[in-house]
Amino acid sequence: MDSVLIIGAGAAGSVVAQKCAMNRDVFKKIHLASRRLESCEKIAKRCVTPIEISHVDADNVAETVALLKKVKPDLVINMALPYQDLPIMDACLEAGVHYMDTANYEPRNEAKFTYKWQWPYHDKYKAKGLMAILGCGFDPGQSNIYCAYAQEFLFDEIETIDIVDCNDGSHGKAFATNFNPEINLREVTQRGKYWKNGQWIEIDPLSIACMVDYPEVGPRKSYLIYHEEEESLVENIRGLKQIRFWMTFSDNYIKHLEVLQNVGMTRIDPVMYKGTPVIPMEFLKELLPPPSSLGENYTGRTSIGCIFKGKKDGKEKRAFIWNVCDHAQCYKETGAQAVSYTTGVPPVVGAMMFFKGHWKGAGVFNVEQLPSKPFMDEIGKQGLPWQMAEIAEKDQAELFAVKT
Ligand SMILES: NC(=O)c1ccc[n+]([C@@H]2O[C@H](COP(=O)([O-])OP(=O)(O)OC[C@H]3O[C@@H](n4cnc5c(N)ncnc54)[C@H](OP(=O)(O)O)[C@@H]3O)[C@@H](O)[C@H]2O)c1
Repeated sequence: MDSVLIIGAGAAGSVVAQKCAMNRDVFKKIHLASRRLESCEKIAKRCVTPIEISHVDADNVAETVALLKKVKPDLVINMALPYQDLPIMDACLEAGVHYMDTANYEPRNEAKFTYKWQWPYHDKYKAKGLMAILGCGFDPGQSNIYCAYAQEFLFDEIETIDIVDCNDGSHGKAFATNFNPEINLREVTQRGKYWKNGQWIEIDPLSIACMVDYPEVGPRKSYLIYHEEEESLVENIRGLKQIRFWMTFSDNYIKHLEVLQNVGMTRIDPVMYKGTPVIPMEFLKELLPPPSSLGENYTGRTSIGCIFKGKKDGKEKRAFIWNVCDHAQCYKETGAQAVSYTTGVPPVVGAMMFFKGHWKGAGVFNVEQLPSKPFMDEIGKQGLPWQMAEIAEKDQAELFAVKT
């Protein structure tokens, strides 16, 4: 197996295509398809080895099936939007092609991301001997694999996980989102949520914050938000008692978000404008800079990882696994900023795991259900080296003390 079809020629899809094109020993045939052919053409010019391109509207299952039958890939990497997850999964089932994505399905008319739509595909994929690998970006993705690695190699029992995500970079724009604006704003404006002692606890958006000390960045105010990997990790990490997700937002970002929300620009229901229904969030997306345009002159770093508390050999243990990624270095290598880069490299390594036979199975899998070690051995070579340290309670004093 060596033929890949990438669907979605956006900011992160560009990194996926370029990285595949740098690894021709694994990816012998690379095809990139997207809604606009010109998006594919721009990316193909950046690739160091030739790739093929096509137009596809991945909302249209029949069109996608026709492309799959023409290209005959072994694996589709879905780098389009969460709205396209189900139609692409349906097309893969029909054409007999394995599937991978980086974000779970969301219906357009409801900002609710959950695996409840994709997990039920398990039996259908299994019956056809196909594999669907869900959530193989950074978070979800690498974060889940850090958890799987900690479960297997560092702890006898993991009690708490805090996933901590800091973008300490500056793109110099008044307001921009680092991945697709519509999906990003839908995520951040949702109610917050975390899991404790078997229950989901909801909180008002951005209503709990604490200082997290990020490697190579330092202490940054971080907000408790809900993130999709929590749903699968709760199922797959044995004995877990609590999982939370923290993300940094600058005061400037929050100021803009508040204003946009207050004036109704983040609404996802149609508003009639001069006789035409307009969805404010979709219109806002057209006004904001695309994430693929942010790389030039972007300075600073992302610092993302997982902080664990649990037991090893009967003793209490705390550990931190993380990656730091520099925006300017990512731009130099791929023309992308670090958020697109950290999203785009893990699916390439996931696809390598699949093609090399380290990840195999029939059905639908979240990445923490698959062997972590071969992924952890490869990911550093592909640009996202990880580090690990045992830590003490005082090293993340606020995080361990915050009452939730
Ligand atoms: N797990 C993670 O760590 C993580 C982090 C960030 C983002 N993500 C996910 O990564 C994905 C891509 O994000 P991004 O920042 O790269 O967004 P983006 O720059 O907006 O790219 C999305 C691309 O999808 C294509 N697309 C949209 N509708 C399509 C359709 N119906 N058929 C075919 N192609 C279609 C668009 O292509 P055209 O240009 O051709 O119109 C667009 O360029 C999203 O699903 C996002 O949620 C995951």
